[in-house]
Amino acid sequence: MRLAVLASGNGSNFEAIAQAVKAGDISAEIVLLFSDHRDAYVLERAKNNNIPAEAFELKEFENKKAYEAALLELLAEHQVDLIVLAGYMRIIGEGLLEAYPNRIVNIHPALLPNFPGLHGIKDAFEAKVTETGVTVHYIDSGVDTGPIIAQEAVAVDSEETLEQLEEKIHQVEHQLYPRVIAEIVKETSK
Ligand code: GRF
Repeated sequence: MRLAVLASGNGSNFEAIAQAVKAGDISAEIVLLFSDHRDAYVLERAKNNNIPAEAFELKEFENKKAYEAALLELLAEHQVDLIVLAGYMRIIGEGLLEAYPNRIVNIHPALLPNFPGLHGIKDAFEAKVTETGVTVHYIDSGVDTGPIIAQEAVAVDSEETLEQLEEKIHQVEHQLYPRVIAEIVKETSK
């Protein structure tokens, strides 16, 4: 199975997935890392892991439709079977959704349906919940609304800072996401 990872920034989840592929824990190949930011650190990570990487930005296109058409073409060129979003900070448009039905997964740093959107960790922290967590889900046309595949809870200690909570959440992400992807790959390769 051929995976593409889409990421906009740091790429620590991409790194965790790449390591899991390398270790043989995920029976798939990452054939493409795409970033919508030409200076994203995730591009360095792809290079260090010898994974083909491409980047272009929305602002280089006339509109979002043209941007997505270019992305779709890139995915088709690389014969991608499954799209893994890992900190990809854009909404997936109709074209991509139709081309990859139930073949786009995302990770969100909260227990959906609670705290969707851009600031899942901070929103949970500020709401003073005693428990938050991580969700892996399929993408649909809403924001963080698609069918949930897996969740893991993370306790919030009353003493802890936002930074400490972020660290804890990311550690859970780096374990959970590769595990869930391995499972999806296994199921869909049957
Ligand atoms: C993660 O917290 C993920 O849940 C969210 O964006 C963040 C990406 O972090 N969607 P990284 O780029 O993988 O380090």
